[in-house]
Amino acid sequence: MNLCRVLLLAIGSLCLAVTASADNISASYDEDGKYFTADDVPTFKVDADGTVDWYTFSGFRRYHAECHVCHGPDGEGSTYAPALKTSAMDMGYYEFVEVVVNGRKVVGAAANSVMPAFGDNPNVMCYLDDIYVYLKAHGSDTIGRGRPGKKHPKPASFKEAEDACMGG
Ligand code: HEC
Repeated sequence: MNLCRVLLLAIGSLCLAVTASADNISASYDEDGKYFTADDVPTFKVDADGTVDWYTFSGFRRYHAECHVCHGPDGEGSTYAPALKTSAMDMGYYEFVEVVVNGRKVVGAAANSVMPAFGDNPNVMCYLDDIYVYLKAHGSDTIGRGRPGKKHPKPASFKEAEDACMGG
């Protein structure tokens, strides 16, 4: 293999890496106020004046109801559990979901460090995309700490999906 070909390969994978990380954040389209990347992964949308999409706001509330006890306020992490604002940026969507559904225990870890499985918990599962997009919005520094001040109204489809998911 000559040098040119090696360089081309290197540049090619660099471009792929850059595209992949950008794609994990940038909103490409929305379905009634729920935003997705070009790869159909849920993401956030924050207007220039700081108004957040409904799902990001919902995720803020759900995160603080179900996750912050261990992972710390605003996804900042604690001595016990990792900073999820960083995990949401570094992990792929499907990997993130897999850990929440099945939980995780590091075998042989010195500390008693256990991520519970939430797969049977509708208060988590019905809002998992919301939690994920909220963490990406904060992890990318698009929104700061604390409750988002301004939000878009709740889309009709959010309520329908919520009722269906919660079995109502
Ligand atoms: C009882 C405490 C506890 C609660 C509640 C909890 N977690 Fe965890 N979580 C942990 C611990 C501890 C770890 C680290 C496990 C390990 O060592 O791999 C973890 C790891 C994770 C990871 C992997 C992070 C990474 O960078 O590898 C994700 C994702 C995660 N939690 C999501 C959540 C979400 C979302 C919620 C709320 C719905 C939640 N957790 C609630 C304790 C908790």
